[in-house]
Amino acid sequence: MTTAFDNAAQLLLPPEPELQYLRSDRAGEMTLEPGGITVEHGRIAALEPDPDADIHVDASGCALLPGLVDCHTHLPFAGWRAEEYEQKVTGVPYEEIARAGGGIRSSAKALRESPDEVVLAQAQTLAGEMLRSGTTTFECKSGYGLSTAGELRALELATELSQIVSQVTTRTALLAHAVPDGYTTTTWMDEVEAMLPEALEHVSALDIFVESIAFGLDDLDRMGALASANGVLLRAHVEQFTTMRSVPVALKHGARSVDHLATIHPDDIAPLAASNTAAVLLPGAEFMGAEATAPGRELIEAGAIVVLATDANPGTSPVFSLPLIVGLGVRRYGLSTREALLGVTLNAAYVLDLQSDLGSIELDKRADLVLLDCPAEHVAYRLGRNPVAATFVGGEPAYVRPDAAWRIMEG
Ligand code: NIG
Ligand code: FE
Repeated sequence: MTTAFDNAAQLLLPPEPELQYLRSDRAGEMTLEPGGITVEHGRIAALEPDPDADIHVDASGCALLPGLVDCHTHLPFAGWRAEEYEQKVTGVPYEEIARAGGGIRSSAKALRESPDEVVLAQAQTLAGEMLRSGTTTFECKSGYGLSTAGELRALELATELSQIVSQVTTRTALLAHAVPDGYTTTTWMDEVEAMLPEALEHVSALDIFVESIAFGLDDLDRMGALASANGVLLRAHVEQFTTMRSVPVALKHGARSVDHLATIHPDDIAPLAASNTAAVLLPGAEFMGAEATAPGRELIEAGAIVVLATDANPGTSPVFSLPLIVGLGVRRYGLSTREALLGVTLNAAYVLDLQSDLGSIELDKRADLVLLDCPAEHVAYRLGRNPVAATFVGGEPAYVRPDAAWRIMEG
């Protein structure tokens, strides 16, 4: 079956095919010109519409983009932490909330006390929200287990989630998130090493939270060695609240990404930008937590692979909409539309190691697409409005806003 997308006012195309990523200082080379495409058997078959296609999608007045990729979420988790948000906005620092048993620990308790079906139902609902905001691929993480059994359960739930959502998902083992009671960072890292064979059955990446209230540089070094020894990607939550100088350690291990970077040391910008490690910026967490602002513009000017993601989690960023993240990122870091879109498509796919299969509109890639009812420039400008008219996963409409249903026609 073939589907033609006709007459898009803007079609986002990369400057050349088969890029693994595009350094963000080259984002201006992506084109947003009028055009159309043809999809066959769930893949992009031509960069022009086939007039004889079985299905036609009228994309007039719309921007047609690759499906959005959310490369940093903490799904699945249990419950919410709205009361902590109120504490935070009225002046209690996150570190203090965390030390008093809130934060990650309270989500760990909620996860422990929630049956599998409740956790999965909540995550499935959120995945539906994400689909309606244009997300066709997302990452899941463990990290609220805080015990070997809890972490392995979280990874199993993430694997089950992948079977009940429309999107493509990946799994990351965030095995060092908060230091569980009764452990030091080192004795917990011993546990991590012991649970690794089982955890690796589920995941393509390992992750660690490096912070004054969490793990240190030695632990990052150890996690990096474990990732290399086991042939999985290293990702790391770094420089969120405290300048720890984690970036050089992550670079030494060839991390696929360093995430947060609100307090990155200025001397670490150039080496990061020169490396193949992506800089994942999380403006939702920065905004909701009144954190420092990552030097997004400087990272782009220096040639880094810059990415935006939701960091969707019940604590620091209960935000699931990438269009909203684009809006926050554009304003906070001073990004152009193309720089921001690159950060939620191809470069985000690179973080998940899916760049050969998705993340840009090019021949033979998966036909994961999002149709916006407005020019791409409006995504950031009309902050908080959902611009998504329809989302296509593997060429099939996975979400169609009722007022856009007329656009999809047979014959
Ligand atoms: O990415 N920084 C650490 N981990 C999460 C927050 C987790 C939580 O507060 O539940 C983050 O912001
Ligand atoms: Fe996170």
